[in-house]
Amino acid sequence: MKVISVFAMTSERLIGKNGVLPWHIPEDLKHFQNLTKGQIVVMGKNTYYSLPEKYRPLPHRRNIVLTRGVFSECESYASIEELIQTLKSEKIQEIYIMWGVQIYKAFFERWLTDRVECTLIEWNYSWDAYLPEWRENFILKSEIEFEHGRFQTYIKNK
Ligand SMILES: NC(=O)c1ccc[n+]([C@@H]2O[C@H](COP(=O)([O-])OP(=O)(O)OC[C@H]3O[C@@H](n4cnc5c(N)ncnc54)[C@H](OP(=O)(O)O)[C@@H]3O)[C@@H](O)[C@H]2O)c1
Repeated sequence: MKVISVFAMTSERLIGKNGVLPWHIPEDLKHFQNLTKGQIVVMGKNTYYSLPEKYRPLPHRRNIVLTRGVFSECESYASIEELIQTLKSEKIQEIYIMWGVQIYKAFFERWLTDRVECTLIEWNYSWDAYLPEWRENFILKSEIEFEHGRFQTYIKNK
């Protein structure tokens, strides 16, 4: 099973501000929609509740939330190991990790991320939620420029 992380960040690896996205870029939201439509999306509980109420669970996707607490709004797991074990037993081919900071970090730390779909935003922000450096373990395979930055695809450096 392939694990694909999808996020937008600046060159300083900023990805969040007070629990929300620091920017509003419709092209990036469209890119996210295209990548994940019909797929399995995995997110942390904070991210789930940061979605507008009418968009949660996200339509046209199997939504999975990671939480150690009680959660009944959609499918959920109390650990990454339990999640992976269940999906592997279902012979699932790929899953998309879609936010937030804690979840990306946990997948990077366990070396479970096979591919990264990163939107590199070329704006100068400095706020509160950053990812650790992850690019040293990945190879840039392709990138497409757009008005606010680049859509990049990275593959794990084995
Ligand atoms: N730039 C982007 O592309 C992008 C996109 C979306 C969000 N973001 C940013 O991400 C930030 C939100 O991230 P966050 O770190 O606050 O929250 P999060 O990762 O969405 O959720 C954290 C919660 O997930 C649960 N959790 C975390 N690790 C777990 C594990 N290993 N097993 C089971 N449950 C686990 C815990 O819930 P319980 O406490 O219930 O156990 C934890 O409190 C915001 O700043 C937002 O702006 C950025």
